[in-house]
Amino acid sequence: MVGAPHVAALQLRRFRSHIEFASEFDRRPVAIHGPNGAGKTNILEALSQLSPGRGLRGASAEEIAGRPDPIGWFVGAELASDGESRSITVSVDLRDSAGRRKIMVDGEPSGQTGLGGLLRTLWLTPAMDRLWIEGASERRRFVDRLALLFEPTHAAAAAAYERALRERNRLFKEQRRDPSWFAAIEARMAESGAAVEAARARAIAEILTSQTGGAFPEAALQLESADESAPAGPETAEALALRYAAGRPREAMAGRSLIGPHRTDLAALYLAKNMPAKSCSTGEQKALLVSIVLAAARATARLYGAAPILLLDEVAAHLDASRRAALFDAVVELGAQAWMTAAGGEFFDELGGRAQYIALNPD
Ligand SMILES: Nc1ncnc2c1ncn2[C@@H]1O[C@H](COP(=O)(O)OP(=O)(O)OP(=O)(O)O)[C@@H](O)[C@H]1O
Ligand SMILES: [Mg+2]
Repeated sequence: MVGAPHVAALQLRRFRSHIEFASEFDRRPVAIHGPNGAGKTNILEALSQLSPGRGLRGASAEEIAGRPDPIGWFVGAELASDGESRSITVSVDLRDSAGRRKIMVDGEPSGQTGLGGLLRTLWLTPAMDRLWIEGASERRRFVDRLALLFEPTHAAAAAAYERALRERNRLFKEQRRDPSWFAAIEARMAESGAAVEAARARAIAEILTSQTGGAFPEAALQLESADESAPAGPETAEALALRYAAGRPREAMAGRSLIGPHRTDLAALYLAKNMPAKSCSTGEQKALLVSIVLAAARATARLYGAAPILLLDEVAAHLDASRRAALFDAVVELGAQAWMTAAGGEFFDELGGRAQYIALNPD
């Protein structure tokens, strides 16, 4: 990992509405403003491609390719820190690679885990405003994004777990009974599942010790499982494997796997009010999310000497002026290169000269 990387240059080609975009940046926050449809979120989405996964919209490579002639797309970034410089490019050529992302680090082919080890990224989007209200899967995704800050192999472990889970579910669906077949799949699920649980628990623990209060509410966070046989904390691969074996008859009845980290949820409480997050006001729910993201960034800075790149899409929209000012102060104090968007430049008044600005106009 580069000491304290920031994005020093960004280049996009055929990335959604950006046929060609190139700009250079220093380590200060980046404030992007312009009318609806100007391409603000698209820039954040492009940056989110520089970390493992499908980015902040969860979009397929085809969706991202610039229309009307979608042949592929390219995101290139120079990361700079303390005189050191690294280059990452992520690109897709729809004509010859069936939508597979091609990742290059310093000119050499790399994989998703390579990305996770190079650049830590965390985002908040308007779609996440409903995080506390919606189903558990979105919250799990959020927890996994947090876990990736502290464990670059988390994305690979989560993907391995998902693959094995699908195989086990298929056995149930096809009403197979072969114990050795189950045991082989469960061994893989247990190994990757225990790693997933451990990384999630670690992330939540780091965040809980990094909340500072102030303008953003302190959250009590707890990982919970929908499965009653689950222990309170993370478990060893051996213990998880035993639970899988014991759970088979019940799960065969249900026709699917009911045990393991795919049943985990994140419970949050607005501590000062002793109020579950889902019962808080819209602005309070947003403030809780900001609070968690800032705490995660603080923990990352403490542990690795650098805050993550923050992508805060329309973060100002639900925050009142005093909380907005507090957010800007927190981001500047963290030394995080936070990329923030808003429909108008006036949303960044309190940020003033502490940031660099991009004004976008629609075509
Ligand atoms: N694959 C694509 N090819 C070309 N254009 C696209 C593609 N996907 C989306 N767009 C366009 O990109 C434009 C900019 O989208 P973006 O979400 O970045 O806007 P924005 O500046 O964040 O606007 P808002 O303020 O409404 O959030 C939209 O007009 C959309 O139609
Ligand atoms: Mg937008």
